[in-house]
Amino acid sequence: MSDDLVNIEVNGVPLKARKGQMIMQVTDPANIYIPRFCYHEKLTIAANCRMCLVEVEKAPKPMPACATPVTEGMKVFTKSPKAVAAQRATMEFLLINHPLDCPICDQGGECELQDLAMGFGRDIARFSERKRVVKDKNLGPLISTDMTRCIHCTRCVRFGLEIQGYPQMGTTGRGEHMEVGTYIEQSVDHELSANIIDLCPVGALNNKPFRYHARAWEMQQQPLVSPHDAFGTNLYAHTLRGRIMRMVPRENEAINETWIADRDRFGFEGIYSGERVTQPLMRVDGALQEVEWEAALTAAAEGLQRTIAGHGAASAGFLSSPTATVEEMYLLARIARGLGSGNVDHRLRQLDFRAQETESAYPSLGMPIAGVDLLEGVLIIGSNLRHEMPMLAHRIRKAALKGAKVAFLNPRVFEYMFPVAAYGLAEHDLVGNLAAVVHAAAAAANQPVPAGLPAGATVTDDHRSVAAVLAQGTRRAVLLGNLAQRHPAYSELKRLGGLLASLTGARLALLTEGPNAAGAYLAGAVPHRGPGGATVQPGLSARAMLDSALKAYVLFGGIDPALDLGAGADSLRSADFVVAATTHLPASLREVAHVVLPIGSFAESSGTYVNIEGRWQSWAGAAKLLGDSRPGWKVLRVLANLLAVPGVDYVSSEEVREALRSACGEGLTTPNGGAGGTAPGAAAGSAAAASATRGGAGGGGAANGAAVPTGPWIDIPPYEIDVLVRGSEALGKTKDGRLARDVI
Ligand code: SF4
Ligand code: FES
Repeated sequence: MSDDLVNIEVNGVPLKARKGQMIMQVTDPANIYIPRFCYHEKLTIAANCRMCLVEVEKAPKPMPACATPVTEGMKVFTKSPKAVAAQRATMEFLLINHPLDCPICDQGGECELQDLAMGFGRDIARFSERKRVVKDKNLGPLISTDMTRCIHCTRCVRFGLEIQGYPQMGTTGRGEHMEVGTYIEQSVDHELSANIIDLCPVGALNNKPFRYHARAWEMQQQPLVSPHDAFGTNLYAHTLRGRIMRMVPRENEAINETWIADRDRFGFEGIYSGERVTQPLMRVDGALQEVEWEAALTAAAEGLQRTIAGHGAASAGFLSSPTATVEEMYLLARIARGLGSGNVDHRLRQLDFRAQETESAYPSLGMPIAGVDLLEGVLIIGSNLRHEMPMLAHRIRKAALKGAKVAFLNPRVFEYMFPVAAYGLAEHDLVGNLAAVVHAAAAAANQPVPAGLPAGATVTDDHRSVAAVLAQGTRRAVLLGNLAQRHPAYSELKRLGGLLASLTGARLALLTEGPNAAGAYLAGAVPHRGPGGATVQPGLSARAMLDSALKAYVLFGGIDPALDLGAGADSLRSADFVVAATTHLPASLREVAHVVLPIGSFAESSGTYVNIEGRWQSWAGAAKLLGDSRPGWKVLRVLANLLAVPGVDYVSSEEVREALRSACGEGLTTPNGGAGGTAPGAAAGSAAAASATRGGAGGGGAANGAAVPTGPWIDIPPYEIDVLVRGSEALGKTKDGRLARDVI
């Protein structure tokens, strides 16, 4: 669009506009209201509802404001008698076939048609013929339909084509017989599909699980942040009498724009699943029994003290779910280190930790989220991207549609809804294939092969085409996904990814597991760093804790040992003492826990997550705690007091957060473009990654001629990644909800 400015006048108010802009794109920022149904700023212009008709001087008839470009000297009238008459006429046409079922319609109270009919509708209909009826479609377990209400705005159709890249909805028939549906009846099953619920301006598409459970005006709205991945998607929880009824997007152009993933919308159902635990429990005579809080906390503290007195502090391990907040992780790490144990970790599914010493202060994307749209060359290694971080896949798709070259190096072929420039399939040897890509990149850049690269790589055309995407433009990135991080030789993959990034001038980005991996690093919930990256005596990693059969474990935040631990759960069974401070009590946790402390989920207490670009996002809690459960940070605070850990007398989660923020300092608490902060020892962001490439402490492995670790690793379906999504009935019924784990 041209930057040349033109002068227009709207309702007598002079405005400046860029040539090529539509009238509505100028009036919206100027807060001049024009009614509309089909226009949406994130979708292309369809101009098929005609609700936005306005009067334009010298035009022979009213013009659609969403599809009429501005011209120099144009005079627009949005409220003139001619404009209002056109808008009222459009409304009359729209209502000819729209059922007048507002009192029983599930969209009532939040329906754009209902709202506009108040302003532009007639008191009495002139149309006395029968209204048409359209058969409902079955779009699956997430979206309900009432297609008689459809006003053919095609927002849902355009969303599929333009945002998902998976055109599932479409129109059939013409005129009176036009219908919107899925052509052949099938469920709508993209990971962002349920956004059409918000887009539909009438009650044709609605939230199926929420349907008829509450009215919009009865509920309260509270801001939250998604607990399912590190993207940091902004949400609103709508609550009725303290219970979450639904989740909707909270607009944030810098992060999720106006969209959310389906698991962000329906994952909250897991808060109310049957596995939720709401009373403190203690094992008595081999069985867990309900007890008072005081008894459970005292037993937890005494059990830990007894183990440490008998076997030493290093015999206790503290594992946090990656969904815990920074406040909770900070307190958990303080307790562990206060007792003398450095064994604290949140990287439950990671198997290889050899590269951890060379990491930057926290794992990050290496750029702002909004910068992903502008990338020109991207290589994604070991990632089922749409499942791991659906909203990031959307951003990468935007970049690809703008012309970025995107390549993958993966153990499986996954489906992407955008043009993929090259796909390297590395089913059996991800490390060897990545090394070959580094060789290919070095040859393409006319640079020597970096020292320490495994010798004997066979470079094929596939490797060359994968490497070629990193020669595109100036904004390039190498992304290591969740699959790479669960790989038994993650250190090698990270080292090679760093080499590739250095060779090609790309940024190295890490797509971490869970919503708060960056926060966990900053809070000291890793064995090799204290809060704010402080130097500490290193303890055991999550895998080492489970491999070395410790005497006592504390499992915090909702961990299902059978599904969340990469290294298996046998050590938990043989431990003398296991405390579970948890939201849920699945069978595998019930089997091993000696004391169960029920805590609130992310939505039931205040907290903070640090997202993939280093942005701290706090919230105040939205729903009432269930039963006798308590906020996780409070439980840890009291436990710390009982264990005589000094300096943790915080009275609010805000105090905990501020204590951590001051330990982190300004450099680690403000979004810094996702550079990942400075690692202890002053190795900065990408420099730390680069040092890993030189075969530093963590990068040894292949560089030193040692065997590259091998073994099975897993691709986890998107609706199995945490206790909440696993407890969502609606997500469980979807196509992705029926996927099984893939052992690679
Ligand atoms: S179903 Fe809703 S969003 Fe789709 S065309 Fe009809 S009114 Fe528009
Ligand atoms: S909003 Fe302009 S025609 Fe629909």
